[in-house]
Amino acid sequence: MRTYHVNSGAGIDGLSVREHEVPVPGPGEVLVALRAASLSFRELMVLRGDYVLPVKPDVIPVSDGAGEIVAVGPGVDPARIGDRVMATLFPSWQDGPFGPEHLPQLGGSLDGMLTEYAVLPESALVPVPTHLTFQEAATLPCVAVAAWNALTGDTGGGVRAGQTVVVQGSGGVSLFALQFAKMLGAHVIATTSSQEKAKRLLKLGADEVIDYRTTPDWPGRVRELTGGRGADRVIEVAGLLEESLKAVKVYGHVAFVGFVSDTATPLDPMVLFASGATVRPLAVGSRAQFLEMSRAIEVNRLRPVIDREFAFDDAPDAYRHLASGQTFGKVVITV
Ligand SMILES: NC(=O)c1ccc[n+]([C@@H]2O[C@H](COP(=O)([O-])OP(=O)(O)OC[C@H]3O[C@@H](n4cnc5c(N)ncnc54)[C@H](OP(=O)(O)O)[C@@H]3O)[C@@H](O)[C@H]2O)c1
Repeated sequence: MRTYHVNSGAGIDGLSVREHEVPVPGPGEVLVALRAASLSFRELMVLRGDYVLPVKPDVIPVSDGAGEIVAVGPGVDPARIGDRVMATLFPSWQDGPFGPEHLPQLGGSLDGMLTEYAVLPESALVPVPTHLTFQEAATLPCVAVAAWNALTGDTGGGVRAGQTVVVQGSGGVSLFALQFAKMLGAHVIATTSSQEKAKRLLKLGADEVIDYRTTPDWPGRVRELTGGRGADRVIEVAGLLEESLKAVKVYGHVAFVGFVSDTATPLDPMVLFASGATVRPLAVGSRAQFLEMSRAIEVNRLRPVIDREFAFDDAPDAYRHLASGQTFGKVVITV
Protein backbone atom coordinates (compact mmCIF):
# COMPACT_ATOMS: atom_id res chain seq x y z
CA MET A 1 0.00 0.00 0.00
CA ARG A 2 1.07 3.59 -0.54
CA THR A 3 1.26 5.98 2.39
CA TYR A 4 2.25 9.61 2.81
CA HIS A 5 4.66 10.54 5.61
CA VAL A 6 5.86 13.85 6.97
CA ASN A 7 7.68 15.39 9.93
CA SER A 8 6.20 18.30 11.88
CA GLY A 9 7.51 21.56 10.39
CA ALA A 10 8.78 19.93 7.16
CA GLY A 11 6.37 21.93 4.97
CA ILE A 12 4.46 20.74 1.93
CA ASP A 13 7.70 19.79 0.15
CA GLY A 14 8.45 17.48 3.10
CA LEU A 15 5.58 15.14 2.17
CA SER A 16 6.83 11.81 0.82
CA VAL A 17 5.11 8.64 -0.39
CA ARG A 18 6.35 5.19 0.68
CA GLU A 19 5.20 1.63 0.10
CA HIS A 20 4.40 -0.77 2.97
CA GLU A 21 2.82 -4.16 3.47
CA VAL A 22 -0.90 -3.84 4.17
CA PRO A 23 -1.19 -4.05 7.99
CA VAL A 24 -3.12 -6.76 9.83
CA PRO A 25 -5.75 -5.68 12.39
CA GLY A 26 -5.20 -6.85 15.98
CA PRO A 27 -7.81 -7.60 18.68
CA GLY A 28 -10.67 -5.08 18.58
CA GLU A 29 -9.30 -3.49 15.40
CA VAL A 30 -10.43 -3.26 11.78
CA LEU A 31 -8.61 -2.69 8.49
CA VAL A 32 -10.16 0.19 6.52
CA ALA A 33 -9.52 0.73 2.81
CA LEU A 34 -9.57 4.53 2.62
CA ARG A 35 -11.61 5.98 -0.25
CA ALA A 36 -11.14 9.67 0.57
CA ALA A 37 -9.32 11.98 2.97
CA SER A 38 -9.93 15.65 3.63
CA LEU A 39 -7.72 18.57 4.67
CA SER A 40 -8.40 21.13 7.40
CA PHE A 41 -6.40 24.07 8.72
CA ARG A 42 -4.82 21.70 11.29
CA GLU A 43 -3.01 19.88 8.48
CA LEU A 44 -1.30 23.12 7.43
CA MET A 45 -0.29 23.67 11.07
CA VAL A 46 1.22 20.18 11.29
CA LEU A 47 3.33 20.92 8.20
CA ARG A 48 4.27 24.38 9.51
CA GLY A 49 5.30 22.88 12.87
CA ASP A 50 2.92 24.96 15.02
CA TYR A 51 0.13 22.45 15.66
CA VAL A 52 -1.04 22.68 19.27
CA LEU A 53 -0.91 18.92 20.00
CA PRO A 54 2.04 16.49 19.76
CA VAL A 55 3.00 15.16 16.32
CA LYS A 56 5.10 12.01 16.13
CA PRO A 57 8.10 11.81 13.79
CA ASP A 58 7.41 10.46 10.28
CA VAL A 59 3.65 10.53 10.93
CA ILE A 60 1.07 9.49 8.36
CA PRO A 61 -0.69 12.88 8.21
CA VAL A 62 -4.37 13.94 8.02
CA SER A 63 -7.00 13.29 10.67
CA ASP A 64 -10.00 12.99 8.38
CA GLY A 65 -10.95 10.15 6.08
CA ALA A 66 -13.67 7.70 5.11
CA GLY A 67 -13.52 4.20 3.71
CA GLU A 68 -14.72 0.64 3.86
CA ILE A 69 -13.92 -2.11 6.35
CA VAL A 70 -12.08 -4.87 4.44
CA ALA A 71 -10.82 -7.07 7.33
CA VAL A 72 -11.45 -7.43 11.06
CA GLY A 73 -9.26 -8.54 13.95
CA PRO A 74 -10.13 -10.99 16.74
CA GLY A 75 -13.21 -9.93 18.69
CA VAL A 76 -14.77 -7.91 15.85
CA ASP A 77 -17.86 -9.30 14.07
CA PRO A 78 -16.85 -10.28 10.49
CA ALA A 79 -20.30 -9.05 9.39
CA ARG A 80 -18.79 -5.57 9.67
CA ILE A 81 -16.74 -6.16 6.51
CA GLY A 82 -18.13 -3.83 3.85
CA ASP A 83 -19.32 -1.18 6.37
CA ARG A 84 -18.70 2.41 5.23
CA VAL A 85 -17.03 4.23 8.11
CA MET A 86 -15.28 7.34 9.38
CA ALA A 87 -13.18 7.56 12.57
CA THR A 88 -13.12 10.03 15.44
CA LEU A 89 -10.11 12.37 15.51
CA PHE A 90 -9.52 11.46 19.18
CA PRO A 91 -10.09 7.66 18.96
CA SER A 92 -10.27 7.09 22.73
CA TRP A 93 -12.77 9.90 23.49
CA GLN A 94 -16.15 8.18 23.58
CA ASP A 95 -18.32 10.60 25.59
CA GLY A 96 -18.33 13.12 28.45
CA PRO A 97 -15.81 15.92 28.95
CA PHE A 98 -12.46 15.99 27.15
CA GLY A 99 -9.47 15.06 29.30
CA PRO A 100 -5.72 14.57 28.93
CA GLU A 101 -6.28 10.83 28.53
CA HIS A 102 -8.03 11.58 25.20
CA LEU A 103 -5.14 13.53 23.67
CA PRO A 104 -3.82 10.87 21.22
CA GLN A 105 -5.13 12.03 17.81
CA LEU A 106 -5.10 10.74 14.24
CA GLY A 107 -2.63 12.49 11.97
CA GLY A 108 -0.65 13.75 14.99
CA SER A 109 0.50 11.52 17.81
CA LEU A 110 -1.19 8.60 15.96
CA ASP A 111 -0.91 7.75 12.26
CA GLY A 112 -3.66 9.31 10.17
CA MET A 113 -5.64 8.90 6.97
CA LEU A 114 -3.43 9.93 4.02
CA THR A 115 -2.89 6.28 3.18
CA GLU A 116 -4.54 3.53 1.16
CA TYR A 117 -5.23 1.38 4.25
CA ALA A 118 -5.45 2.17 7.97
CA VAL A 119 -5.85 -0.05 11.03
CA LEU A 120 -8.29 1.55 13.48
CA PRO A 121 -9.95 0.52 16.75
CA GLU A 122 -13.55 -0.55 16.11
CA SER A 123 -14.54 1.64 19.06
CA ALA A 124 -13.45 4.78 17.14
CA LEU A 125 -15.66 4.17 14.10
CA VAL A 126 -18.77 6.09 13.08
CA PRO A 127 -21.03 4.92 10.22
CA VAL A 128 -21.13 7.09 7.09
CA PRO A 129 -24.59 8.72 6.67
CA THR A 130 -26.27 6.69 3.93
CA HIS A 131 -26.82 9.59 1.51
CA LEU A 132 -23.18 10.75 1.55
CA THR A 133 -20.35 9.78 -0.80
CA PHE A 134 -16.99 8.79 0.70
CA GLN A 135 -15.67 12.20 -0.38
CA GLU A 136 -18.43 14.01 1.51
CA ALA A 137 -18.05 11.76 4.57
CA ALA A 138 -14.31 12.42 4.70
CA THR A 139 -15.04 16.09 5.44
CA LEU A 140 -16.80 15.40 8.75
CA PRO A 141 -14.44 14.15 11.52
CA CYS A 142 -12.59 17.38 12.41
CA VAL A 143 -14.35 20.58 11.36
CA ALA A 144 -17.95 19.36 11.23
CA VAL A 145 -17.77 17.77 14.70
CA ALA A 146 -16.12 20.95 16.04
CA ALA A 147 -18.94 23.05 14.52
CA TRP A 148 -21.56 20.73 16.00
CA ASN A 149 -19.88 20.91 19.43
CA ALA A 150 -19.64 24.72 19.14
CA LEU A 151 -23.40 24.97 18.58
CA THR A 152 -24.71 22.20 20.82
CA GLY A 153 -22.03 21.11 23.29
CA ASP A 154 -22.34 23.63 26.14
CA THR A 155 -24.00 22.90 29.46
CA GLY A 156 -26.73 25.43 28.62
CA GLY A 157 -28.08 23.05 25.98
CA GLY A 158 -26.78 24.84 22.90
CA VAL A 159 -28.39 27.06 20.31
CA ARG A 160 -32.18 27.55 20.37
CA ALA A 161 -34.41 28.16 17.35
CA GLY A 162 -34.70 31.87 16.67
CA GLN A 163 -31.35 32.78 18.23
CA THR A 164 -28.73 34.70 16.24
CA VAL A 165 -25.41 32.99 15.50
CA VAL A 166 -22.32 34.66 13.99
CA VAL A 167 -20.00 32.48 11.90
CA GLN A 168 -16.64 33.90 10.84
CA GLY A 169 -15.30 33.43 7.31
CA SER A 170 -16.02 30.62 4.90
CA GLY A 171 -13.62 27.93 6.13
CA GLY A 172 -14.56 24.35 6.94
CA VAL A 173 -15.74 24.92 10.52
CA SER A 174 -17.72 28.02 9.56
CA LEU A 175 -19.59 26.51 6.60
CA PHE A 176 -20.67 23.52 8.71
CA ALA A 177 -21.61 25.89 11.56
CA LEU A 178 -23.74 27.89 9.10
CA GLN A 179 -25.47 24.78 7.75
CA PHE A 180 -26.05 23.29 11.23
CA ALA A 181 -27.24 26.60 12.72
CA LYS A 182 -29.83 26.97 9.93
CA MET A 183 -30.87 23.32 10.42
CA LEU A 184 -31.41 24.09 14.13
CA GLY A 185 -33.57 27.13 13.32
CA ALA A 186 -31.12 29.95 14.03
CA HIS A 187 -30.69 33.31 12.29
CA VAL A 188 -27.13 33.36 10.87
CA ILE A 189 -24.84 36.33 10.30
CA ALA A 190 -21.70 35.33 8.39
CA THR A 191 -18.54 37.40 7.94
CA THR A 192 -16.22 36.98 4.98
CA SER A 193 -13.44 38.62 2.96
CA SER A 194 -14.99 39.10 -0.50
CA GLN A 195 -18.21 39.84 -2.35
CA GLU A 196 -17.87 36.60 -4.29
CA LYS A 197 -17.76 34.52 -1.09
CA ALA A 198 -20.59 36.66 0.36
CA LYS A 199 -22.85 35.61 -2.53
CA ARG A 200 -22.08 31.96 -1.94
CA LEU A 201 -22.72 32.29 1.82
CA LEU A 202 -26.15 33.81 1.12
CA LYS A 203 -26.89 30.97 -1.30
CA LEU A 204 -25.94 28.45 1.40
CA GLY A 205 -28.48 30.00 3.77
CA ALA A 206 -26.82 32.89 5.62
CA ASP A 207 -29.40 35.54 6.53
CA GLU A 208 -26.88 38.41 6.51
CA VAL A 209 -23.27 38.66 5.38
CA ILE A 210 -20.69 41.24 6.48
CA ASP A 211 -17.47 41.79 4.52
CA TYR A 212 -14.91 42.24 7.30
CA ARG A 213 -12.44 43.84 4.87
CA THR A 214 -14.78 46.68 3.88
CA THR A 215 -16.48 46.75 7.32
CA PRO A 216 -13.64 46.38 9.85
CA ASP A 217 -16.09 47.21 12.65
CA TRP A 218 -18.06 44.06 11.93
CA PRO A 219 -19.03 43.70 15.62
CA GLY A 220 -20.73 47.12 15.36
CA ARG A 221 -22.59 45.91 12.27
CA VAL A 222 -23.68 42.75 14.13
CA ARG A 223 -25.10 45.00 16.87
CA GLU A 224 -26.96 47.09 14.28
CA LEU A 225 -28.40 43.95 12.71
CA THR A 226 -29.57 42.67 16.10
CA GLY A 227 -31.24 45.91 17.22
CA GLY A 228 -28.28 46.85 19.45
CA ARG A 229 -28.51 43.64 21.46
CA GLY A 230 -25.66 41.61 19.99
CA ALA A 231 -25.68 38.01 18.75
CA ASP A 232 -26.61 35.15 21.06
CA ARG A 233 -23.59 33.15 19.98
CA VAL A 234 -20.36 33.64 18.06
CA ILE A 235 -18.41 30.72 16.59
CA GLU A 236 -14.87 32.05 16.97
CA VAL A 237 -12.43 30.67 14.40
CA ALA A 238 -10.32 33.77 13.74
CA GLY A 239 -8.87 34.20 17.24
CA LEU A 240 -10.23 37.76 17.41
CA LEU A 241 -11.83 37.26 20.82
CA GLU A 242 -12.08 40.92 21.69
CA GLU A 243 -14.08 41.61 18.53
CA SER A 244 -16.31 38.60 19.15
CA LEU A 245 -17.00 39.79 22.70
CA LYS A 246 -18.12 43.12 21.24
CA ALA A 247 -20.44 41.30 18.83
CA VAL A 248 -22.07 38.97 21.38
CA LYS A 249 -24.97 39.92 23.67
CA VAL A 250 -24.49 40.37 27.42
CA TYR A 251 -24.11 36.87 28.90
CA GLY A 252 -23.91 35.45 25.39
CA HIS A 253 -21.78 32.49 24.31
CA VAL A 254 -18.51 32.48 22.37
CA ALA A 255 -17.42 29.01 21.25
CA PHE A 256 -13.64 29.38 20.92
CA VAL A 257 -12.72 26.99 18.11
CA GLY A 258 -9.65 28.43 16.39
CA PHE A 259 -7.37 31.29 15.50
CA VAL A 260 -6.73 31.51 11.74
CA SER A 261 -6.17 35.28 11.79
CA ASP A 262 -2.63 36.60 11.87
CA THR A 263 -3.84 39.92 13.33
CA ALA A 264 -5.03 38.73 16.76
CA THR A 265 -4.26 41.13 19.60
CA PRO A 266 -4.10 40.45 23.36
CA LEU A 267 -7.50 40.36 25.02
CA ASP A 268 -8.34 43.29 27.31
CA PRO A 269 -9.67 41.65 30.52
CA MET A 270 -12.12 44.56 30.94
CA VAL A 271 -13.79 43.67 27.62
CA LEU A 272 -14.23 40.08 28.79
CA PHE A 273 -15.56 41.16 32.19
CA ALA A 274 -17.93 43.76 30.77
CA SER A 275 -19.35 41.31 28.22
CA GLY A 276 -20.41 38.81 30.90
CA ALA A 277 -20.01 36.27 28.11
CA THR A 278 -19.05 32.65 28.41
CA VAL A 279 -15.99 31.86 26.30
CA ARG A 280 -15.76 28.10 25.78
CA PRO A 281 -12.60 26.69 24.16
CA LEU A 282 -13.30 23.30 22.65
CA ALA A 283 -11.46 20.38 21.12
CA VAL A 284 -13.39 18.86 18.19
CA GLY A 285 -15.82 16.54 19.99
CA SER A 286 -16.42 13.06 21.38
CA ARG A 287 -17.59 10.02 19.43
CA ALA A 288 -21.04 10.47 21.02
CA GLN A 289 -21.19 13.99 19.55
CA PHE A 290 -19.98 12.70 16.17
CA LEU A 291 -22.74 10.03 16.17
CA GLU A 292 -25.39 12.59 17.11
CA MET A 293 -24.20 14.97 14.37
CA SER A 294 -24.18 12.18 11.76
CA ARG A 295 -27.77 11.29 12.63
CA ALA A 296 -28.78 14.95 12.26
CA ILE A 297 -26.97 15.12 8.89
CA GLU A 298 -28.76 11.99 7.70
CA VAL A 299 -32.24 13.03 8.87
CA ASN A 300 -31.86 16.46 7.26
CA ARG A 301 -30.12 15.10 4.11
CA LEU A 302 -27.47 17.77 4.65
CA ARG A 303 -24.61 17.75 2.14
CA PRO A 304 -21.12 19.05 2.98
CA VAL A 305 -19.69 21.73 0.69
CA ILE A 306 -16.70 20.44 -1.28
CA ASP A 307 -14.48 23.01 -2.94
CA ARG A 308 -12.28 20.67 -4.97
CA GLU A 309 -11.14 17.05 -5.19
CA PHE A 310 -7.57 15.95 -5.86
CA ALA A 311 -6.10 12.54 -6.75
CA PHE A 312 -3.99 10.71 -4.12
CA ASP A 313 -0.82 11.37 -6.16
CA ASP A 314 -1.59 15.11 -6.15
CA ALA A 315 -1.98 15.46 -2.35
CA PRO A 316 0.76 18.15 -2.14
CA ASP A 317 -1.30 20.25 -4.61
CA ALA A 318 -4.33 19.78 -2.37
CA TYR A 319 -2.35 21.24 0.56
CA ARG A 320 -1.21 24.17 -1.63
CA HIS A 321 -4.78 24.83 -2.69
CA LEU A 322 -5.99 24.94 0.94
CA ALA A 323 -3.08 27.22 1.88
CA SER A 324 -4.09 29.67 -0.90
CA GLY A 325 -7.07 30.84 1.21
CA GLN A 326 -9.19 30.85 -1.96
CA THR A 327 -11.27 27.82 -1.05
CA PHE A 328 -15.00 27.78 -0.38
CA GLY A 329 -15.70 24.37 1.14
CA LYS A 330 -13.56 21.37 1.84
CA VAL A 331 -10.48 20.16 -0.01
CA VAL A 332 -10.76 16.42 -0.58
CA ILE A 333 -8.21 13.83 -1.69
CA THR A 334 -9.66 10.75 -3.37
CA VAL A 335 -7.72 7.63 -2.41
N1 LIG B 1 -10.77 23.51 18.44
C1 LIG B 1 -11.01 22.57 17.54
O1 LIG B 1 -11.40 21.47 17.85
C2 LIG B 1 -10.84 22.88 16.09
C3 LIG B 1 -11.37 22.01 15.11
C4 LIG B 1 -11.26 22.39 13.78
C5 LIG B 1 -10.61 23.57 13.44
N2 LIG B 1 -10.09 24.35 14.43
C6 LIG B 1 -9.46 25.63 14.13
O2 LIG B 1 -10.47 26.47 13.56
C7 LIG B 1 -9.88 27.34 12.64
C8 LIG B 1 -10.59 27.16 11.29
O3 LIG B 1 -10.28 25.90 10.78
P1 LIG B 1 -10.81 25.46 9.32
O4 LIG B 1 -10.27 24.12 9.03
O5 LIG B 1 -12.27 25.72 9.22
O6 LIG B 1 -10.01 26.55 8.44
P2 LIG B 1 -10.04 26.80 6.88
O7 LIG B 1 -11.03 25.90 6.22
O8 LIG B 1 -8.65 26.79 6.41
O9 LIG B 1 -10.65 28.27 6.82
C9 LIG B 1 -9.90 29.39 6.67
C10 LIG B 1 -10.89 30.55 6.42
O10 LIG B 1 -10.89 31.41 7.55
C11 LIG B 1 -11.35 32.67 7.12
N3 LIG B 1 -10.57 33.74 7.76
C12 LIG B 1 -9.27 34.03 7.64
N4 LIG B 1 -8.96 35.13 8.36
C13 LIG B 1 -10.12 35.55 8.94
C14 LIG B 1 -10.46 36.64 9.78
N5 LIG B 1 -9.57 37.55 10.16
N6 LIG B 1 -11.75 36.75 10.18
C15 LIG B 1 -12.66 35.85 9.78
N7 LIG B 1 -12.40 34.79 8.98
C16 LIG B 1 -11.14 34.66 8.56
C17 LIG B 1 -11.18 32.73 5.59
O11 LIG B 1 -12.48 32.75 5.01
P3 LIG B 1 -13.02 34.11 4.33
O12 LIG B 1 -12.10 34.42 3.20
O13 LIG B 1 -14.41 33.80 3.93
O14 LIG B 1 -12.96 35.15 5.41
C18 LIG B 1 -10.48 31.41 5.27
O15 LIG B 1 -10.89 30.86 4.03
C19 LIG B 1 -8.38 27.02 12.62
O16 LIG B 1 -7.73 27.85 13.54
C20 LIG B 1 -8.33 25.59 13.13
O17 LIG B 1 -7.11 25.26 13.72
C21 LIG B 1 -10.20 24.02 15.73
